[in-house]
Amino acid sequence: MPNYRLVTRRRTLCMGLASLTTIKAVEIAKIEQQNRQIQMLDNPTRDFKILGKKTLRERALDKGLFFGSASGEDKLSPDTAFATRFTKECNILVPEGALKWNALRPAPNKFDFSEGDWLVKFAHTHGMLFRGHTLVWHYALPKWFKEIVNPQNAEKFFTEHIATVTKHYAGQMHSWDVVNEAIEPDDGRSDGLRNKNTPWFEFLGPDYIELAFRVAAEADPKALLVYNEAGLEYDIPTHEARRSAVLKLLERLKSKGTPIHALGIQSHLAGDETHFNPKKLQKFLNDVASLGLKILITELDVKDQRLPVDPTVRDHIIAAAYEDYLSVVLDEPAVIAVLTWGLSDRYSWLSIYSPRSDGALVRPLPLDVNLKPKLAWNAIARAFDKSPKH
Ligand code: G3I
Repeated sequence: MPNYRLVTRRRTLCMGLASLTTIKAVEIAKIEQQNRQIQMLDNPTRDFKILGKKTLRERALDKGLFFGSASGEDKLSPDTAFATRFTKECNILVPEGALKWNALRPAPNKFDFSEGDWLVKFAHTHGMLFRGHTLVWHYALPKWFKEIVNPQNAEKFFTEHIATVTKHYAGQMHSWDVVNEAIEPDDGRSDGLRNKNTPWFEFLGPDYIELAFRVAAEADPKALLVYNEAGLEYDIPTHEARRSAVLKLLERLKSKGTPIHALGIQSHLAGDETHFNPKKLQKFLNDVASLGLKILITELDVKDQRLPVDPTVRDHIIAAAYEDYLSVVLDEPAVIAVLTWGLSDRYSWLSIYSPRSDGALVRPLPLDVNLKPKLAWNAIARAFDKSPKH
């Protein structure tokens, strides 16, 4: 007599294994399809040839543009080879962390401008402009913030921070990211504003954005005041929703006479992203410019986490992403500056935040870990060389 319980268990096991095998097969097929798509991104015949020996700083200036990057005193001060190369390639510097709340505010009644002061001096000593990032962000807040700031005192902390920091650097700034990443359509508001996990919206409501610009303009009437945002670059539904919400926000701010002068497009690109639509990006840039705003590319880099490990293939795909993106961007007359988020793979936030599963070093930036220019450097140089004058 067969043991039905055993038969049933065995059959269940076999069915389980069969369905697992199917899932596995679907997964493998999906990965193979992705790899085929990624390989198609690589056009080995594209040569990224450049003419002459000019630096990125010089090629940008030739077209009335600024090229620069993000860094910090912890890199520029000890690493003289890096610092020297930085001053040759860049004519604008933005602190990666020095001007965020968690760096500036060691205590509720204290400001620490030491790294910001070091960086602005470094920039100006080497003939570079200096831009600030960022006066208002829901992230990178100091540890004491949660215990101390509440609905009753939030406006005081908010306006005092913006006024004090902006006044401290008044007259020394090319521009400020006044508000960073205030859009999050997934939070469900019809205007697409971020209203979850942000103390500013929670305590001050949607008008905190306008208030930030007004306080900054009063404290430093000379600085270009920028709204900075991520996730605007690709032809995918989430980015489309973010572009539309950003335009609505900018239109609302302009209609109320808010002293806002520019949009910062972070431009954290992905080498394996196949949904790049030049026409859609161009229309968005034009729509922003039609509001009388300038445009800065503020945090450009190309993530290679899901690209093949072969550095030659990776560098090719990354360079193509840089050149294809910047060719569209630099065709927009309102664009005034391009900054990468780091200049060398030696120092990229992606090494920590988007490491490769195979452990290979990431290669997202214009210079490699030995400060040698990669095809990405050529791609940026070519984009500047092909750009119309701005
Ligand atoms: O300096 C401390 C160090 O003393 C400590 O040992 C270590 C471990 O906790 O943390 C170090 O601080 C880190 C800091 O980077 C400096 O490396 C912070 O934890 C870490 O959160 C911080 O991450 C930065 C992140 O913004 C948050 O501020 C990244 O470097 C920076 O690249 C990233 O930049 C953001 C832009 O500001 C806004 N747009 C997106 C972009 C990428 O996320």
